Amino acid sequence: MAEPLSYNRYLRVPELIGLQECLSDPAHHDELLFITVHQAYELWFKQVLHEIDAALSAMQADRAPVAARALSRVAEIEKLLVTQIHVLETMTPINFLGFRDQLNPASGFQSMQFREIEFSSGLKDDAILRAFRDDEFAAGRLRARMDAPSLAEEFFALLTRRGLDAPPDDPSLNDDERRSLYGRRVRAVLEVVTHFEERYEEYQLSETLIAHDEFFSLWRYHHVKMVERMLGTKKGTGGSEGVGYLKTTLDKKFFPELWEARTHLDSTHGAGGCPFAGRA
Ligand code: HEM
Repeated sequence: MAEPLSYNRYLRVPELIGLQECLSDPAHHDELLFITVHQAYELWFKQVLHEIDAALSAMQADRAPVAARALSRVAEIEKLLVTQIHVLETMTPINFLGFRDQLNPASGFQSMQFREIEFSSGLKDDAILRAFRDDEFAAGRLRARMDAPSLAEEFFALLTRRGLDAPPDDPSLNDDERRSLYGRRVRAVLEVVTHFEERYEEYQLSETLIAHDEFFSLWRYHHVKMVERMLGTKKGTGGSEGVGYLKTTLDKKFFPELWEARTHLDSTHGAGGCPFAGRA
């Protein structure tokens, strides 16, 4: 007779707690924390990708509230990912140096799932894809996400279906045409943000997208501060300039049109004023 299900069997706990193999010998006390935090990130990245895929399918089916619900979960997970950084800051720099050399040349730069989140959100980058050419498994997954529509692309496709002028990007466009396309998309977002009551579904979706963008950026910021606190300006194990390189990533955005629209919004757009004005 099959053994009854138990907590340990369902969640594969014995296997899970056997996956943290320290390289330092004798094992450095803080290496377990370092591995646990990174593995926890990768588990959450898996969940984030699961929700992004659900949001992509919902947008393709024109179910904006379903997509918004999945993306609001993504933003909540990302809040957790930001605070998780600070657990690593309880490690002193000298303790980290006690096992850091063994990590060479591995680096968070090679996190396949982090790159999948970037690609599927809208930040597709050939150079990143090339960096994975010696890792067949990762390259296959990244290529699939590179070729599939991103959240940004599906959002503008949804706005177009709902009567707004938000054309899809086209690699054959020249710089002027691309600028014009960007402007048309910004105006489409302005329309949504201005008429948020009439366009509540699109508005709610755009808010969950911008929250995803915001919390991902906050992770980048907290990560670079933690790295500086740990390493100063030492080079990274992945071979980059370290903090200098990471600072160049801080302005990356998944949905630049959503941010840009705020700049052009003023009280002459739509109803503007306080919705509760005049009430007792
Ligand atoms: C003591 C802890 C950590 C240190 C000192 C550190 C250091 C660095 C450095 C120096 C880089 C630049 C690339 C390189 O040359 O290696 C980097 C990139 C990166 N790290 Fe960390 N890191 C730490 C923890 C983490 C954690 C917990 C994660 C979570 C997954 C992470 C994810 C990443 C990612 C995704 C990148 C690439 C960022 C990009 O290119 O936009 N790191 N890290």
